[in-house]
Amino acid sequence: MFARLAGTGHFLPEHILTNAELERRVDTSDAWIRERTGIRERRVCSADESVVSMATEAAKRALAAADLPAEHLDLIVVATTSADRAFPSAACEVQHALGITDTPAFDVAAACSGFLFALSVAEKYIVSGAAKHVLVIGSDALTRMCNPDDRNTIILFGDGAGAAVLSASTEPGILSTHIYSAGEFASLLGADHPNRSDEAFQQEAWLYMRGREVFKVAVEKLAELVEHTLAFHQMKATELDWLIPHQANYRIIQATARKLNMPMAQVVMTLEKTGNTSAASVPIALDVAIRDGRIQPGQTLLLEAFGGGFAWGSALIRY
Ligand code: ACO
Repeated sequence: MFARLAGTGHFLPEHILTNAELERRVDTSDAWIRERTGIRERRVCSADESVVSMATEAAKRALAAADLPAEHLDLIVVATTSADRAFPSAACEVQHALGITDTPAFDVAAACSGFLFALSVAEKYIVSGAAKHVLVIGSDALTRMCNPDDRNTIILFGDGAGAAVLSASTEPGILSTHIYSAGEFASLLGADHPNRSDEAFQQEAWLYMRGREVFKVAVEKLAELVEHTLAFHQMKATELDWLIPHQANYRIIQATARKLNMPMAQVVMTLEKTGNTSAASVPIALDVAIRDGRIQPGQTLLLEAFGGGFAWGSALIRY
């Protein structure tokens, strides 16, 4: 039994935050942001949008693409680290917003790699026979966790959601998932929960990042990850049709593509217009390339992500 991608969808808020606007807010420049990251603009949630509302829209689009009524879902997994509430889970709220009940629903927290972690959970449920149809969503609003005065973080992140319906099939779909975590790097990247007991601290619960150090580890771990994923299947990089990377930084993505000897034309990029949407970035890129016809049935896709935890992971998929 395999877990196959039956349908995908994504949602981006309408409001666009350009580099030019950021130049007016903090000491930065459009040229610096584009050269160091590849980002030109990002989307930002309005006051009436949230991780749950974005996730629900992306989910509806994925369900429509899969032609599957929400009632047929056996499980909902939402990858997020920026939901409004600690509980109920974003997944429970999405379930309710989809107009269904009883379907088990829970969140997975693995920051930017959340979608890969959620995908691996969904795959295991399907392969074991415990579920036939699983809705997997990555949704994040990290712009709300960034200090608006901190040029190190505010330039990088955008909001959005991406979703995929996975269905049981005898035809190959997800060929494997590989996930890793290394908690010893917590001081390099994170965001403390505002309910921490230290009162003074509550005022400073913004996302923190030591970018240069994160960059180094990301490049190293992603190189190992793609190598390991291919070796697991005794596959050559030339057998891959598409690389669908986490959209954090153009230079990190380029380093991974170089490791695979893959031309950038085979790498799906949304970064320029979305910024880093955390757990949403991989499913957004996946959906964009499916909808615009670049990804075709039978092709082989390598999905990868790296982020806070540190947590990183890959999925090799026959579409
Ligand atoms: N605008 C202008 N100048 C800036 C800015 C800015 N926004 N930020 C830093 N600078 C300056 C620095 O002060 C420094 O100046 P100096 O040389 O005079 O000291 C110079 O630019 C270079 O700074 P670096 O931090 O070395 O820049 P770097 O090339 O490393 O780029 C960046 C920074 C874009 C953050 C990069 O390190 C990066 O992308 N890191 C990885 C981020 C990431 O992948 N995060 C993981 C996912 S997030 C998650 O999981 C939630």
